[in-house]
Amino acid sequence: MSSSEPRLKPFQLGSIPIDPPLLLAPMAGHTHVGFRTLVRELGACGLVCSELISSHVLEHNPKSRQTRDLFDWSPAEWPFAVQLFGSVPQEMATAARLVVEAGAPIVDINMGCWVPKVAKKGCGAALLSDLLKAEAVVRAVCEAVDVPVTVKVRIGFEQGKPTAVSFAQAAANAGAKLITVHGRYAKQGFKGQSDHSVTAKVKETVGSSMAVIANGDIVDTESARMVLQETGCDGLMLGRECLRRPWILAKMAHELCGKPLPDARFHPARIARRQFELTRTLVKKPEKVVVRELRGQLLPYRLGAPTDHNRPERTELEMELRERLVKAETFEQMEQFLLEAEEKTWAN
Ligand SMILES: Cc1cc2nc3c(=O)[nH]c(=O)nc-3n(C[C@H](O)[C@H](O)[C@H](O)COP(=O)(O)O)c2cc1C
Repeated sequence: MSSSEPRLKPFQLGSIPIDPPLLLAPMAGHTHVGFRTLVRELGACGLVCSELISSHVLEHNPKSRQTRDLFDWSPAEWPFAVQLFGSVPQEMATAARLVVEAGAPIVDINMGCWVPKVAKKGCGAALLSDLLKAEAVVRAVCEAVDVPVTVKVRIGFEQGKPTAVSFAQAAANAGAKLITVHGRYAKQGFKGQSDHSVTAKVKETVGSSMAVIANGDIVDTESARMVLQETGCDGLMLGRECLRRPWILAKMAHELCGKPLPDARFHPARIARRQFELTRTLVKKPEKVVVRELRGQLLPYRLGAPTDHNRPERTELEMELRERLVKAETFEQMEQFLLEAEEKTWAN
C-alpha cells in the first residue's frame, strides 16, 4: 500500500478486534452459518452477521421454529454480530438479552430494511423517519446488554431527505459503538447508485465517538479505495458482491491490508461446492428446503468460469450451468451437478 492510499486500519469494538475492517453484510436468505463459515474459510474478514431476527416474534412467540432456525451461530465464527429488527424498545431489549444469552458477542440493530413487510410496521428503515423512537430503540438495547451494540442504516427514508447524520448523533449518545451506512435512501430500494457523501458527513460528525462503516456498491479493491477516499470511513461492508464472489473480502483484505490468502485461484464451481457442503452440514433444515434455498444462493456464482471475474456478459457455458442448477432437487443431484461444473471448468 503506497503512502497516498487511504488507510484501512484494524479497530476495536469494545474488546473485540475488527481486523481487517472489511465486513460481510447481513443478507436475509443468504448469510446463514454455512455461507458465513465459507467466507471465513476463504480468508480474512473482520466481522460477519446473522440474518435479521424479529424482536416482536422473540417476545411473543419465542419458540417459533422459523425464528429459532436463525439462531444458527457458533463460537467458531467469532467475531460475529446478530442482527435484530423491531420498533418497540422493550421488545428489542428482551430480544437483545435472548441473543446475548445464546452467545451473541455483538448486537446489530437493523434500521435499513426497506421491504414493506418490515418498514410498514415502523421497523427497519422506517425508524429513520422517527428519530426519537429510533434513539429509544438504540438506548433500550444498549441498556439491556453489556456487549457492543451497532446499527445499520440507510442515508434516510424519503429520497432527498438525509437523516443519517442526526440519527448517528442520537445513536452515539444512546451508546451505539458502530454505525454502518448504506448509501441509498430506503425509498430507492436498490435503484440508482450509492451516494457516499452522506456517509462522509456521518464520519465527520460522529467519527470520534463511534466507528463508521461505508456500504453500498463496493465490488472490488478499486471501488473500495474510492469509497475510502471519499468517506474517510473506518471500514467497509460488502453484500451482493459476496454472493457472486464470496472470496472478494479475502481478496480485498490481501490487496488493501496485506492479509495472507489461503488460496488465490478462486475457482467458482469449487467454492460453490464448498458452500454446498457447509450448508448441507451446518444448516438444520429439511433437505428439500435446503436444496431449494441453495438453488437461489448459488445462482449469483459464475459457475462456468475457470477463475475469478466479474465481467457482465455470461458465456454459453455459464448460461447452460445456470439452467441446470435450478433443476437440482436433492443433495445428490446438486452435488453431482457441482462436481461436473468443477470438472468442466477446472482444466480451462
Ligand atoms: C438478498 C439481500 C438480503 C438483505 N438482507 C438484509 C438484512 O437482513 N439486514 C440488513 O441490514 N440488510 C440486508 N440487506 C442489505 C445489505 O446488507 C446491504 O446493505 C446492501 O445489499 C448494500 O450493499 P451491497 O451494495 O454491497 O450489496 C440485504 C440485501 C440483499 C441483496
